[in-house]
Amino acid sequence: MSAERDLSVRIGTLFMKNPVMPAAGTYDYFENNAGLFPMESLGAIMIKSVHRHPRPGNPPPRVVEVYGGMINAVGIPSVGMEAFMEREIGRFAALNVPVVLSISGSRPGHYAECLELLDNDPCISAVEMNLACPNIDSGLPFSSDLATLRYTVGESRKATRLPLIAKLNPSVPDIVPFARAAEEAGADALTLSNTFRAMKIDIDRQKPVLGSSFGGLSGPAVKAANLFLVWSAFQQVKIPIIACGGICSWQDAVEYMLAGASAVQVGSRNFSNPNVMPEIIAGIESYLAEKGYAAAREIVGLAHRQ
Ligand SMILES: Cc1cc2nc3c(=O)[nH]c(=O)nc-3n(C[C@H](O)[C@H](O)[C@H](O)COP(=O)(O)O)c2cc1C
Repeated sequence: MSAERDLSVRIGTLFMKNPVMPAAGTYDYFENNAGLFPMESLGAIMIKSVHRHPRPGNPPPRVVEVYGGMINAVGIPSVGMEAFMEREIGRFAALNVPVVLSISGSRPGHYAECLELLDNDPCISAVEMNLACPNIDSGLPFSSDLATLRYTVGESRKATRLPLIAKLNPSVPDIVPFARAAEEAGADALTLSNTFRAMKIDIDRQKPVLGSSFGGLSGPAVKAANLFLVWSAFQQVKIPIIACGGICSWQDAVEYMLAGASAVQVGSRNFSNPNVMPEIIAGIESYLAEKGYAAAREIVGLAHRQ
């Protein structure tokens, strides 16, 4: 059955044999999860965001569980781009699977600087720009301001030949102008989306639980809201959409594909079920077989049919 279904996805020169990859920052390949399943069974792997400059990340506690998910305020601890290139990138060369690098910055120019330092390295098949990070000049995420988003993606476009994926922040009044701006500035695909701003208060201590007071909500709680973002953007952009938000099962993945996602990223669910990604791939394949489709791309956006 599986040999007959074509699950492949293309994003520019990035070829994935199936549409499933981990979300940035939620899967560790070499220590905790090493050997659980062959990495090459995934469509791609994602390296957690490497920041332009070294960062310690946020004060603890950095994660807390809430109804329907978790809130994280990890704050992108990073060795910085130079040290990543010197010491870490080589580890990914041995993996027989396309590798996507997530990059982040604190100023608009930081993303293009990361890409110049990356210098189209052959270990990396595509780059995802984590545009939910705050721009220290305004305090706003890069993808919450149209002019900043255009500039940041546009400068990055000039700095690399690699496929560029713009990962947008969901907390905007309407995702469509932001999706279009990223496309017009040269993004090859969109990831929709990132965590939703959230917090939890300890009622005994009468203080926020997280060390940085607030953080980002992820998990099943965000799925329905995020599905609407994918649905809305699909009608308005031509580039592929990668869905990210609350995907815990193959049914979630299929729902996102019907809304318009060409590929999916699995985040928080990896922590409670590190085998969930191969389960999702198998489930998508069975769904296609059961419904009589030859290729995963045939179901992308199907729910928009009149
Ligand atoms: C612990 C943790 C760390 C994360 N680190 C990053 C990161 O480095 N870069 C990034 O773009 N997103 C990061 N995210 C956001 C995820 O990639 C994803 O967008 C979000 O969790 C929504 O997907 P989910 O509901 O499947 O978890 C992180 C999320 C969590 C829970």
